[in-house]
Amino acid sequence: MSIVFLNGDYMPVEQAKISPLDRGFLFGDGIYEVIPSYDGKKVGFQAHINRMNAGLKAIGIELNWLDSQWEMLCEQLSEKNGAGPLGIYLHVSRGTDNKRFHAFPENVTPTVFAMVFDIPIPNTPDLATIGNGYALTSSEDLRWQRCQIKSTALLGNVLHFQEGYQAGCQETLLYNSDNELTEASAANIFIVKNGVVITPPLDHQILPGITRRLVIDILMKDGSIKLEERVVTMKEVNNADEIWLTSSSKEISPVTMLDGKIVGDGKVGSVWLQAATLYSKNKFFY
Ligand code: PDD
Repeated sequence: MSIVFLNGDYMPVEQAKISPLDRGFLFGDGIYEVIPSYDGKKVGFQAHINRMNAGLKAIGIELNWLDSQWEMLCEQLSEKNGAGPLGIYLHVSRGTDNKRFHAFPENVTPTVFAMVFDIPIPNTPDLATIGNGYALTSSEDLRWQRCQIKSTALLGNVLHFQEGYQAGCQETLLYNSDNELTEASAANIFIVKNGVVITPPLDHQILPGITRRLVIDILMKDGSIKLEERVVTMKEVNNADEIWLTSSSKEISPVTMLDGKIVGDGKVGSVWLQAATLYSKNKFFY
C-alpha cells in the first residue's frame, strides 16, 4: 500500500482526502516537483527545491518551508514506501477557498501533498542492452507562455503527450511557431550533430529541467564533448545524428524514431553512451 503525505500527516493513499474547493483541484493552481531517489539517495535535491521555491514565488504562494523540512519529508516517504528507485512527487496548491472565485483568496493555508511512484532501475548504460530507444512524434507547441513554471495545470502538456501516445509513441517533441525546438511534453530535448551536443536555451518556452542542468554541468566539467545552449531549428532536429530526452524519471533517454523516420542511423548513438555513462557516474554529486 502506498503511503502519502497530506498537510502534515502520513497515511495510506486511500485515506488522503482534499476538498473539491481546493484551488489545485478547481484551477490547477499549484506547483509540483518530481525528485528521483534511488534507495534513499536523491538526485539534484537542492536544485529541485530551489526550482519549486521559485515557482511558488512566481505564482504568489507563501509557504516558507525550510529545505530541511522537504528533505525530511522525502526521506520519510522513501522509507515508508520501501525505498527502491522512486520518483518523489511534491505538490503545493494555493489551498482551499470557501467559494470558486478566480482571485487569490486571503488567509488560506496552502495544501501540501506528496507521494512516490516507481521509476525505472538505472542500469549501467550499454549499447547492447539499451534496446531500440524512444519513438516520438512532433507537434507545434500550443501550451502557454510561462513554461518555465512547473505548474500543476498540465492540460497543455497532457494533450501533447496524448498525441504521441495515440500515435504509438512515447513522447511528443514540440516546436514553436518559428519552427524552433522547445522541449517535449514531459522532458527536455538535446540533439547531437557531428559530435556536438546542442540544447535550446532557458526561456519562457521550456521548463528549466534539473536533469538538463545536471547533464550540461557534468558534460562541461568532463570537457570531452562539445556542448552548445542555443536555438535549435526543426531542420537541425530532423537532420540530427542523435536525439535525447532528459527528465528526472527517464534520466538521459535516446530517441531513435521521430515522426516515423529513423534518427541518424536508427541506432542508439555513441555520444549518448558517453554522456549517459558520465551521468550515471556523477549524478549523485549534484
Ligand atoms: N516532467 N519539461 C517538462 C515539460 C517536464 O514536465 C519535465 C519533467 C521536464 C524535465 O525536468 P526534470 O529534469 O527536472 O525532471 C522538462 C516530470 C518528471 C513529470 O511531469 O512527471
